[in-house]
Amino acid sequence: MVHPDIERVLLDEGVIRSRIAELGRQLTADYAGRKPVLIGILKGSVPFMADLMRNLGVDHTVDFMCLSSYSGDSSTGVVRLILDLRESIQDRDVLVVEDIVDTGLTLSYLRQNLLTRGPRTLELVTLLDKPDCRKVSISPRYCGFKIPNEFVVGYGLDYNEAYRHLPYIGVLKKSAVKA
Ligand code: IMP
Repeated sequence: MVHPDIERVLLDEGVIRSRIAELGRQLTADYAGRKPVLIGILKGSVPFMADLMRNLGVDHTVDFMCLSSYSGDSSTGVVRLILDLRESIQDRDVLVVEDIVDTGLTLSYLRQNLLTRGPRTLELVTLLDKPDCRKVSISPRYCGFKIPNEFVVGYGLDYNEAYRHLPYIGVLKKSAVKA
């Protein structure tokens, strides 16, 4: 059953599951012999992080950060650090796990911030990428799906904190978006 506020499903559960399995195989090969730390960006990356961890065949640790630049369905452009890491990332192979890259402002802020902490390597895996929306140049090393410039929800992504629990990714009906 599709949620009544969803206009159409962009990526269903099966498509998401098999793409994450592929990403897991790629990361397992690329990180062989290393023990990366996966940094999940709260809250949107939670389902992706959980599925990616279980598809990653190398030992790894996890940590979380919370950043905010969004209000409703648009980016404010001002990135705030709300929750920081628990562990040091000095000399670690760091893999940032994001739900979606839109303007790129969040990740460019995050990249600069994390680089000052002396990681051995720093790469980004994002489930979704909206390359047409960039305000700063940033290209994730690993990407699940490139999608058009539409506001999407589900599988961790929200609109005003709703719809994160949907197991698929869909486009919201106009009537569900507050003017
Ligand atoms: P950026 O800084 O513009 O790249 O925005 C990144 C953050 O904005 C993501 O981590 C999401 O939380 C949020 N975001 C961007 N596009 C969407 C969308 O289509 N749906 C829901 N959240 C989005």
